[in-house]
Amino acid sequence: MRPIVLIGMMGSGKTTIGKKLAMDLNLSWVDTDLYIENTKHQSISSIFETQGESYFRDCETNALQQLINHPGVISTGGGIIVRQENRQLLTEHTLVIFLETEITTLIKRLDINNRPLLQNEIIETKLTSLYKARENFYRDCAHITVKTDHLTVAEVVEQIKNQM
Ligand code: S3P
Repeated sequence: MRPIVLIGMMGSGKTTIGKKLAMDLNLSWVDTDLYIENTKHQSISSIFETQGESYFRDCETNALQQLINHPGVISTGGGIIVRQENRQLLTEHTLVIFLETEITTLIKRLDINNRPLLQNEIIETKLTSLYKARENFYRDCAHITVKTDHLTVAEVVEQIKNQM
């Protein structure tokens, strides 16, 4: 089977939904951010702070390349679709699920402490500009899209399973 990959903005639920989907399907679950933290022995925030975003994106591409054949569910960081090579890998080798979520919902769900891109920013403005720059990439990559705003975690997982 192709790996199932969850994409979407920070706060769209990629981690929570990825874990539950994997459990329901009896598959294992991995996460590109966790892979980076475990292999670099450094938190994502610390990587951004000390080595910068461009280095983080290199780590993220490498993580995706390492995990691309994982026979299970892969949750990703919100910016995984920014690089063309990542988008190509995702669409060609995996089943991509876009968790589409409105900015107002993201704001309600987000713990901004672990989100380096949201530090010292007006959150709504920053999320809106990130989403504007990324929306087409999410849509271009997605094989399945689920709107998460008014659904519980279990309902999102059911919708994904029904569309697979
Ligand atoms: C990022 C999202 C984060 C993490 C990093 C950058 C982004 O992951 O990869 O802080 O560019 O949107 P989550 O989407 O899991 O918060």
